[in-house]
Amino acid sequence: KHVAVLLGGFSSERPVSLSSGKACADALEAEGFQVTRVDVDHDVASRLAELKPDVVFNALHGPFGEDGTIQGILEYLQIPYTHSGVLASALAMDKSRAKTVAAAAGIPVASSIVMDRFAIVGEHPMKPPYVVKPVREGSSFGVVIVKEDQAHPPQIVTSSEWRYGDEVLVERYIYGRELTCGVMDGKVLGVTEIVPLGHSFYDYDAKYAKGGSKHVLPAEISPNLYQNIQTLSLRAHEAIGCRGVSRSDFRFDDRFSEEGELVWLEINTQPGMTPTSLVPEMAAHAGYSFGEFLRWMVEDASC
Ligand code: DAL
Ligand code: MG
Repeated sequence: KHVAVLLGGFSSERPVSLSSGKACADALEAEGFQVTRVDVDHDVASRLAELKPDVVFNALHGPFGEDGTIQGILEYLQIPYTHSGVLASALAMDKSRAKTVAAAAGIPVASSIVMDRFAIVGEHPMKPPYVVKPVREGSSFGVVIVKEDQAHPPQIVTSSEWRYGDEVLVERYIYGRELTCGVMDGKVLGVTEIVPLGHSFYDYDAKYAKGGSKHVLPAEISPNLYQNIQTLSLRAHEAIGCRGVSRSDFRFDDRFSEEGELVWLEINTQPGMTPTSLVPEMAAHAGYSFGEFLRWMVEDASC
């Protein structure tokens, strides 16, 4: 099979995608596939129409790669592709609308409002602590945590440096542990706890700098919580209508009770795909080597 690996693109997560794409392309070659690496630019439709690969392996992240737009091009060209389709991708990319659908499916979410970023001046939009997030971004780009003792809303959100769109999500801040769970082939994988080392949360550097975080798989949490996270991850995957793999991210606050409060933050339809990324680690834990995991994704591709 001839597989075109889409990588790069022009979202903020371009460097992450270059890294995911390289890892996947190298491993697919080692599995015996004929691989073409396609750094995505505005001419991607004509390039793919000419290239005519059997399958597109989508290793893009963020806007234009994870939001239904490239998926629409691939549907139009009738080229089978990996991961979620148009609707699930567009929905999952939008943190606010995804939460609405998840909440309707009975998944616990933190209360939030969607605002124009220029309206976040003077008064706090919500009682601190809260988090301001771009509605459509990944890898923690533009995530700002506002602590209890902060007198004013964060100025960065209204500044000219802001590159993450005008629509922002203002969400109640959930203290506590970061937990994440993958879904593959309609079945849940293990639950990983992410422990940021020397970072206040799992921000961009904690995610990608060497030694920035530690992954604990299987997470050392109660069997009940472990199972609850798996159930909710599968439910989110199905409610959003995902295909192939996805990864749901959660926060768990157990300061006030043993039972604690579990909150679903988001689902990622194009989770990071280097061998040390979360989902490939979960697949390895379930017995799939990185190569086997990618082979399955290529075989599962459709349009
Ligand atoms: N957005 C990054 C790639 C992730 O979710 O893994
Ligand atoms: Mg994300």
